Amino acid sequence: MKRLVINGGKALKGDIYVGGSKNAAVAILPATLLTEEPCLIENVPNVSDVRIIIKILKNLGAECRWEDNSTLYVDTKNVNSSKAVDEEVSRMRGSYYLIGALLGRFGQAEVALPGGCTIGNRPIDMHLKGFSSLGAKVDEEYGTVVANAENGLRGAGIYLDKVSVGATMNIMLAAVKAQGNTTIENCAREPHVVDLANFLNSMGAHIRGAGTDVIKIRGVKELHGAKGYSIIPDQIEAGTFMIAAAATKGDVTVHNLIPRHMEALTAKLEEMGIGVDEGEDEIRIYSNGEFRGTTFRTQPYPGFPTDLQPQMSVLLSLANGESNVYESVWENRFAYVQELNRMGAQIEVNGTAAEIHGPKKLKGVGLRCPDLRAGAALTIAALAASGKSYLTDIKYIDRGYADFEGKLRGVGADIEREEVETND
Ligand code: EPU
Repeated sequence: MKRLVINGGKALKGDIYVGGSKNAAVAILPATLLTEEPCLIENVPNVSDVRIIIKILKNLGAECRWEDNSTLYVDTKNVNSSKAVDEEVSRMRGSYYLIGALLGRFGQAEVALPGGCTIGNRPIDMHLKGFSSLGAKVDEEYGTVVANAENGLRGAGIYLDKVSVGATMNIMLAAVKAQGNTTIENCAREPHVVDLANFLNSMGAHIRGAGTDVIKIRGVKELHGAKGYSIIPDQIEAGTFMIAAAATKGDVTVHNLIPRHMEALTAKLEEMGIGVDEGEDEIRIYSNGEFRGTTFRTQPYPGFPTDLQPQMSVLLSLANGESNVYESVWENRFAYVQELNRMGAQIEVNGTAAEIHGPKKLKGVGLRCPDLRAGAALTIAALAASGKSYLTDIKYIDRGYADFEGKLRGVGADIEREEVETND
């Protein structure tokens, strides 16, 4: 078993560089199935979710190889199966993008999906409703989705009952090569939705309106390969490091980010009295440890991202006064609170709301990651705490952060990964 050993209490100082967006990459890689020409994709984050997608593509018959540590060559011309049902597929939520991509390529798809996960139920009913509207017959049996468009996919008008990143992107994947026009209304506006649209447009797709709540797609017959498309920076990785800098009374410049994508976070940090200097593609965060609490609600973009809620709650535990956090995207995203309270925080959770009483001095203890972002949050707590913390179940962190501890060490964190023997 691997764990992180963190000696807390050191102010983070210096420069840190953000990689490509995980949530864009897990959709962009399946999108390569929509062409028989090779694609060269830059700024691909080498995280375990991406490595799983690469393995799934290879199992389907694609050629994938790293050209350097962030450039990936993908050639799917030899893929001749629309069936992705092996174990890898059900190891990650993002594998649902294979349904849209395989439907777009072959007019049929059979994909095994994972069940619920710790942050919530994670239904995909709106994805499936979208595929049905495009003319596919969709069945879900024993956790496997079987979609079939015998007469090909046809453009349609689709209204999403709830704003969903996954449904917006998955329907986009299926619709780009459908016959005729598709309109998706009430869609998600996240930066990675725009990035997928830009990637597909670079392959010859005709998608307009990504980044607004109405996306219009004119179906095209063929897509060509993408040559040197660069994935956008990871907004959540950037936000995690920004919060870590503030929580450790540090002074860190986070490079390779898009400041506009960070506005919900920077506005809150400024409101709390934390130093924020924005540059063209970097943000400097500095703090002397004196900042006040605040209230926020997680919302789809451009609202405050749910994927930064746990990290922000750690910061609020260190802030002066009361804070309130409302989680409106996932019903179970406070799983880290129990661990954080063991470190000395005082957070009361009531359903999807949390009341945070600060400021509290945190102390290092043995911790377990309940999920990806909770793992990042507990790492921040351990960096800000006095004494030593041990963090287990770090496989969750590896799903979304490449060389997490290496990057943190680069700004002065005392953090090591070590292998320990287990009794089980
Ligand atoms: N929802 C439905 N039906 C659907 C789809 C979604 O009811 O068919 C609900 C969900 O239950 C949730 C809400 O709609 O309450 C929003 O879900 P969304 O579809 O936007 O989430 P997702 O696409 O499954 C992605 C990210 C998550 C991130 C959310 C919200 C990927 C692979 N995952 O999930 O990322 O929290 O958007 O921004 O892109 C993470 O990176 O840690 C992570 C969990």
